[in-house]
Amino acid sequence: MSANRPGDSFSSNFGMVAAAIGSAIGLGNLWRFPYLVGQNGGAAFIIVYLIITLVISTPILLSEMVIGRRGGGSPRQSYIAVSGRKGWGVAGIIGMVTCFMIMSFYVVVGGWTIKYLVLSLQMAFARGAQIDSVGLFSGFVGSSFPPIAYAGLFIVLTLVIICLGVQKGIEATSKLMMPMLFVLIILIGIRSVTLPGAEAGLEYLFKPDFSSFTFSSLLAALGQSFFSLSLGACMLITYGAYTPRSSNLVRNAAVITVSDTFFAVLAGCAIMPAVFAFGINPSEGAGLVFVTLPQIFTQMPLGGLCSILFFVALFMAAISSSVSLFEVIAASLMDICKISRGKAAAITGVTLMITGCICSLSQGVLKNITVRGMSIFDQFDYLSSNFFMTLGGLLTVICVGWFVKKRDFMDEITASGHLRVSGALASVLFFIIKYVAPLVIVGTAISIIF
Ligand code: PFF
Repeated sequence: MSANRPGDSFSSNFGMVAAAIGSAIGLGNLWRFPYLVGQNGGAAFIIVYLIITLVISTPILLSEMVIGRRGGGSPRQSYIAVSGRKGWGVAGIIGMVTCFMIMSFYVVVGGWTIKYLVLSLQMAFARGAQIDSVGLFSGFVGSSFPPIAYAGLFIVLTLVIICLGVQKGIEATSKLMMPMLFVLIILIGIRSVTLPGAEAGLEYLFKPDFSSFTFSSLLAALGQSFFSLSLGACMLITYGAYTPRSSNLVRNAAVITVSDTFFAVLAGCAIMPAVFAFGINPSEGAGLVFVTLPQIFTQMPLGGLCSILFFVALFMAAISSSVSLFEVIAASLMDICKISRGKAAAITGVTLMITGCICSLSQGVLKNITVRGMSIFDQFDYLSSNFFMTLGGLLTVICVGWFVKKRDFMDEITASGHLRVSGALASVLFFIIKYVAPLVIVGTAISIIF
């Protein structure tokens, strides 16, 4: 089945891979990963993260692509097509809701990124500049109009890319931005590791300390792996539907996972050595990127230039992920409401503006409205990554493991016999998808609840 309209597909396998990597590499890598590493025992966290990513996340990623390419439509249509049951359409709708929740806070942080990029272009973080980075950040995010305006700008930029379509918008921007992103992070990494005292940061990243690794660190590693690879939000189902029939899905899954993980480690190497070189506590938390780093830039040689490179990188990472989240929602709306891409994008943009405003204001005037002690912003972040993405991941593996025949799974990953995939590898992957991944996800969910 193919519900794609002309132009709604990637022109090549490289385009697909670039777009999927663009989705995976995002704020999760540059904003979240370094502070989670900092809070959970440095290398100990990285080791567990790598194992989970290899054993659990990569097969889930493959499952999403199998559903998407075999189904060939919106997530709802694809789930129905591959399972042969109408009820499975709900899983696609849950994916759309998940993306909506992530987007609601993602656009706010995307807006902060633009603000900090503007500040860095004004040389606010150049060496010797006097800034109160804590006051600057809390004053900005706690105010009412400015962060909303920046989030609005971020939404409009995302919308422009979406309206250009899959090939001219998503694919073209990803092919341009992804290589640049790697170059930028490597440049920043080189500056960071050559600072005096940087070795302590590298040691922290690469020498495991299991004493600060707890059970909640394990959950954090699983959640981060899902978030970073954009799993459980139907992103790869949507992009899978735009993937050429001849693409090797197993290889794509490996390339996407390795690139995203490599980038996260590179981001750690770019950030941690600088943090240690200036004697700052690595477990700073979410403020690491917007509070600690600007402070560090003002003290280091070439700090002004590094701040520009860093915030350009952060912006590119954020917008390419935001585009993918937006695309899942827009593709779903096109299918459910039978409307054009332009209309679906407009509806998504306006609705996101409203929820984005609420998330942004919850850092300021709406701060006192809390649910279980969390602001609305934190609640969206927490619920989407700990509940909705986990549920989405579970539904994906159950659908492929239990509702798709192994023969059809093989047919998909070998592109109907045109590609050679080792039988043993395929069996291991199918086993993980059918038994291991669901058990791990359910086990994790139970331990979070109790
Ligand atoms: N993977 C993105 C990040 O690391 O920032 C976040 C994300 C994008 C999650 C797209 C889910 C998604 F569908």
